[in-house]
Amino acid sequence: MGVLEKEILAPVSGTYNLENYEAIRETFSWDDAAKGLSFEKTGKINAAYETIDRHVDEGYGDKIALHYVDGDERRILTFKEVKEKTDLYARVLRDNGVRKGDRVFVFLPKTPECYISILAIIKIGAIAGPLFEAFMEEAVKDRINDCKGTVLITDKEMVKRVPQSEIQSLHTILDVENIENTVYEETAADPVEWVDLEDGMLIHYTSGSTGKPKGVLHAHRAVIHHYVSGKWVLDVKDDDVYWCTSHPGWVTGSVYGLFAPWLNRATIVIQGGRFKAENWYRLIAELKVTIWYSAPTAFRMLLSQGDILKNYDLSSLRHVLSVGEPLNPEVIYWAWEQLGVRIHDTWWMTETGGHLIVNLPAEKIKPGSMGRPFPGITVGILDEKGKELPRGSVGQLAVRTPWPGLMKEIWGNQDRFDAYFKYEGWYVSGDLAYQDEEDYVFFQSRDDDMINSAGERIGPFEVESKLIEHPAVAEAGVIGKPDPIRGELVKAFITLRPGFTESKELLEEIRVFVRNNLAAHVAPREIEVLEELPKTVISGKILRRELKEMEILRTKKSN
Ligand code: WT7
Repeated sequence: MGVLEKEILAPVSGTYNLENYEAIRETFSWDDAAKGLSFEKTGKINAAYETIDRHVDEGYGDKIALHYVDGDERRILTFKEVKEKTDLYARVLRDNGVRKGDRVFVFLPKTPECYISILAIIKIGAIAGPLFEAFMEEAVKDRINDCKGTVLITDKEMVKRVPQSEIQSLHTILDVENIENTVYEETAADPVEWVDLEDGMLIHYTSGSTGKPKGVLHAHRAVIHHYVSGKWVLDVKDDDVYWCTSHPGWVTGSVYGLFAPWLNRATIVIQGGRFKAENWYRLIAELKVTIWYSAPTAFRMLLSQGDILKNYDLSSLRHVLSVGEPLNPEVIYWAWEQLGVRIHDTWWMTETGGHLIVNLPAEKIKPGSMGRPFPGITVGILDEKGKELPRGSVGQLAVRTPWPGLMKEIWGNQDRFDAYFKYEGWYVSGDLAYQDEEDYVFFQSRDDDMINSAGERIGPFEVESKLIEHPAVAEAGVIGKPDPIRGELVKAFITLRPGFTESKELLEEIRVFVRNNLAAHVAPREIEVLEELPKTVISGKILRRELKEMEILRTKKSN
């Protein structure tokens, strides 16, 4: 521990929306953070109004709201056009019987219509349930059934993956094409439904360690969190072109792909199609993307493609952010050398509704750390009794309640909701971390991935990061293998980069590399080469738990 702290990256010179961050941390209040949103003046809130319509009313209707890119297709919509389309969709939903509080799902690819549908649902006071585009029947069914969704917006292709007969509550399926072709009188009433800060707006399904996915419900108040974190962490300004690579079916894609940038009047990029390094680089160069929010897996994929980035002019990029899984220092160094930018890690969860631990653009970065608490957020590292541990100790990463983005409930399941709040006054994340004297938080693992070898606590992330710094290692998953003497020993599963072949010598070299660069007790005692590592289908996170299960099964067999 602490090995990765030695490198400290200073902020790149420039002007940022939040520069006096230490002073703000002293004086911050969430009430102040809401200033700039219109409900502060009018007393009436609707998250969709704040996100889009407000800008039209403030005279920015002609500003470009979005660039849509898919293959050779290009579309541009202004804020006024997004508002008008949102109004149209909202009226169609009303005419189909949707009322305040109803759950309406969206099952669409990453297109402008997907974003507009989500806003339209929220505009009439209903709760939007965006679904990831790659879901198959069972995933679609489970989610809509859980919160008894009544209406679904989809298209001709994706509707084939909607098993309507198995979803009793679903009375209407709307095809976007038909919505687009509906015509209303110019004089039709404004569809905005004014609601309370506590009313529900958005439901995202996320996995727990057991059972079916849980429906995390967010309230309209969350836009306060989205707005201020968009301003300070994304650092959105009027001339920025902002691209978040996540689909709105995931909370990153809705909160930081739609709400936070648009609440700050950004021009956003919506890109369809699958990941391909050349396409991503071409998109940045073509649209002169200035702010880019993605994930470590994507950065690692780009990194592994080597020099092709030299074929593109990526000089427009001024601010890059990451979320979702540990950001390896190697990736930060790569971006620094190849792109001339720092990657700013951010930590939060579906349940937290917005950033909680961040690297502000004006602050120094410590590679290996997720950053410092956002203003107004207090982090605690807790022991098993819920008592705060001293700086430097690894424990349960918890956050003082409440804050505006915090989920309102887990749909229909009070027990699962209460499990997050088992210690009075704290939200418990399920992550393990430590915090240093300067408030930087260092992720270790999920609560159950931690390795304990001969009484030493070892974070697999640190070992994996080191392993992939070795030129032969493409990816690594590190687990604690049960061991009769040491409790656990460190075992690494790796994949090799093209051009390397497995040999005893190579594996020993890799082990020594970790031992020499990190510490002897964390160097893997065993290294096994696999064709590929088990990963989550969607986010590509390496499934250490699966590696561990596989290992335990083998040990049992051989005994
Ligand atoms: C879990 C939450 C909403 C963000 C996208 C994922 C892990 C998240 C980081 C980070 C290391 C991270 C945590 C967390 N995680 N950000 N910067 N470094 N781990 O949201 O699917 O709700 O998952 O993702 O383990 O608990 P999610």
